[in-house]
Amino acid sequence: MISLRFAALASLVIATAETVAAPVVGAQTSTVASPDGRTVVSLALRDGRLTWSVVRDKRRVVMPSRLGFTFRNAPALEAGLRVADSARASFDETFTLPWGEVARVRDQHNELRVKVIETAPPAREFWVSVRVFDDGLGFRYYLPDQPNLKDFEIMDELTEFSMAEDMKAWWIPANVPTNDRTEMLYSTGPISKLTLVHTPLTLVGTNGLHAVIHEADLVDYAGMHLAGRSESRTLRASLARWKDGSAVKGRTPFITPWRTLQLADSPEQLAPQLLTLKLNPPSRIANTSWVRPMKYDGIWWAMHLNVWTWSSGARHGATTEHAKQYIDFAAANGLGGTLVEGWNRGWDGNWLLGGGSFSFTQSYPDYDLAAVAKYANDKGVGLIVHNETSAFVENYEQQLDSAFTVYQKLGVHTIKTGYVGDTANPGGHDHQGQYMVRHHRHVIETAAKHGIAVVMHEPIKDTGERRTWPNMLSREGARGQEYNAWGGEGGNPPEHETILFFTRLLAGPMDFTPGIFNLLITRSETNTPRTPNDSRPRTTLAKQLALYVVLYSPVQMAADLIENYANQPGFQFIRDVAVDWDTTRVLHGRIGDDVVVARKTKGKDEWFIGAITDEAARTVDVSLNFLPKGQQYVADIYADGKGANWRDNPLALSITHQPVTAAERLKIVMAPGGGQAIRLRRVP
Ligand code: NOJ
Ligand code: CA
Repeated sequence: MISLRFAALASLVIATAETVAAPVVGAQTSTVASPDGRTVVSLALRDGRLTWSVVRDKRRVVMPSRLGFTFRNAPALEAGLRVADSARASFDETFTLPWGEVARVRDQHNELRVKVIETAPPAREFWVSVRVFDDGLGFRYYLPDQPNLKDFEIMDELTEFSMAEDMKAWWIPANVPTNDRTEMLYSTGPISKLTLVHTPLTLVGTNGLHAVIHEADLVDYAGMHLAGRSESRTLRASLARWKDGSAVKGRTPFITPWRTLQLADSPEQLAPQLLTLKLNPPSRIANTSWVRPMKYDGIWWAMHLNVWTWSSGARHGATTEHAKQYIDFAAANGLGGTLVEGWNRGWDGNWLLGGGSFSFTQSYPDYDLAAVAKYANDKGVGLIVHNETSAFVENYEQQLDSAFTVYQKLGVHTIKTGYVGDTANPGGHDHQGQYMVRHHRHVIETAAKHGIAVVMHEPIKDTGERRTWPNMLSREGARGQEYNAWGGEGGNPPEHETILFFTRLLAGPMDFTPGIFNLLITRSETNTPRTPNDSRPRTTLAKQLALYVVLYSPVQMAADLIENYANQPGFQFIRDVAVDWDTTRVLHGRIGDDVVVARKTKGKDEWFIGAITDEAARTVDVSLNFLPKGQQYVADIYADGKGANWRDNPLALSITHQPVTAAERLKIVMAPGGGQAIRLRRVP
């Protein structure tokens, strides 16, 4: 009889998942609300197990969900618990960012901490802290120093996210053994169909709720993936592993990263994502004057097109002469940097497998690193030194200090790192595992000591490190422009960037490398133009420009060969566009369809608007009421020209200038695969 009643009760709870279930009798519950009172997080002890759950506007968002750990050679830590202590705090402080998509961030939250202890031996204990903000929440575990928990190996973190609704997810798979793991195209589907996915995971509910599961302050832990269970709305934390099968090696006292749940009422409210910044410690770099947001060109796209090579020989890209040409171009066009790839020894033969032989100080004979660095500095351009490791991390770590000492002496302030390779490489570590988390932290901190900022490719995911280490500029960590260069069928579809904005970019800046003007790429081998089925940027020229505003990064590449910018009126937009912002407003957005973003230039009375669409032509009407009232502006509008479309007419671009004020609306007309880029300058 009793069990029947329980079964009936359980089905009732599931059926009414949308409404708040009455507190379970016998459960010991503590709650904490967001400053606006809309979001309430509960930590409840039920039958000796601690759970977390979330209610927003009196509707369940997360059902009571599991917490705990399993260890190697020790019993699981999740059951037989009692609450031993709790604490509360409130916080309201505004901090400034040296650079970003906003200049100031208000960190206003309420915090609850609950300590639990096993009632029987080994009587271990842990705390769970929850911080609730108006835009979401974070919770983390703290394992204090204690007699029966010293050195440990976490096999699994038992954290679950039991979503109240089978929300629609925008996801990339995390169970891909090769490739660079995060460079996949996005799929959509309900939570109940997911197997193993990366975070940030963007979820959309039927009532307009938008939620993003991710993490913050990942310092010495394994990256978290999310594992689904067939026909279940529950996602389980699934940690990337060491080669020996464990996930995290540590010693108490120990603190985990925050598990974050960003909450918004519309897609527009998802960006800018500041939650993870609020959940990272303040900056550790007192003087950040050497960390400079910039636009840059580089010896790069030519190698991806196989016009030049990274390796030595007749078509070697990184020659002193080529580098000087790219530096001259940067200086002439107000770009702050020049990237040079393929300058160092180790690219010959199969560098994907032979990365153990990369040198990070010795250049090929036709490239004079010191002379190029000096030439760049004399012209006011920063040389961006490339460090591809091909995931042979130990080789890189051995050279880190000596290489950074050399770069520092040469006045180099930015490097681009790369980790092409997979776990099959000798010494290959999971890209999101604890080893790599530690490695990237080590690189960032060592670089900071040498006055060097970092742009990472094939990186560990972004969890807000830039708050603490503002020299952590940007990273890739998704399919970038490079996929459009390689021919074959692998390019990005026209909708790709309209998804990236609401998924990957919610982790942090992305070095996507926009600005390809030669959109009808010619095959270098046959000298014939590529077809639309053959990979090439599947956008119009106006959309390439709009990407500078839409896809935020403090470093933005003018990625094409510099000769392709000659006599191109559209290049003026790249000269003008800012890379550092006071404010960001998403004016319109539908995930996978279109997005319109406005950003105000840092310290200047100037705004930019970027609008992009997928394969469909779209018109979006936006208000300019974000401009100060009563002021005159001129809009420089770079729009898709007559008949433009990504497929057969990507180059048609119309440039017009129009007076506007805050009282007006703009009708943004976009072609299939198109976009629009606008500069709004104040008329004195
Ligand atoms: C992949 C990176 O994403 C790309 O930017 C770089 O050019 C190549 N690796 C070579 O390092
Ligand atoms: Ca890459």
